[in-house]
Amino acid sequence: MKVFIIASAVLLGWVWANVEEDLFRRYSGSDRIMDQNEFTSYWLHFDRDGDGNVTKAEFDRTWRADGLGDEERAPFFFLEMDRVADEVLNKEDFVHMFHVFDENGDGQILQSEFTFNWKGLFDN
Ligand SMILES: *[C@@H]1O[C@H](CO)[C@@H](O)[C@H](O)[C@H]1NC(C)=O
Repeated sequence: MKVFIIASAVLLGWVWANVEEDLFRRYSGSDRIMDQNEFTSYWLHFDRDGDGNVTKAEFDRTWRADGLGDEERAPFFFLEMDRVADEVLNKEDFVHMFHVFDENGDGQILQSEFTFNWKGLFDN
């Protein structure tokens, strides 16, 4: 039992630590490079009613449902993402966020850029 609990904790820690890597793998496609469209399509998956705007409630709910961690800080993450400050997240914000993730401004986000910025923005 003890061993099982420890193994579960280790596995959970591993899964949690690799959330952003899994995410990158899923959305960057076979070229392992994330372009603006792929980046936007990830964030639009938070838009549960498909109206083009991610509301605060949709963001909190999806952040929790996806197990992205630090749920109690999701409201702060929402504010970080709301680059065009209008209390919704949409394509306008995702263009700005893409530039934040795209360190060298070449129009492509590599895994290293994604991980570095994800950790900086959304990890403790
Ligand atoms: C989405 O948000 C923008 C900016 O607040 C607003 O102008 C637009 O009407 C919203 N769209 C919908 C479908 O609610």
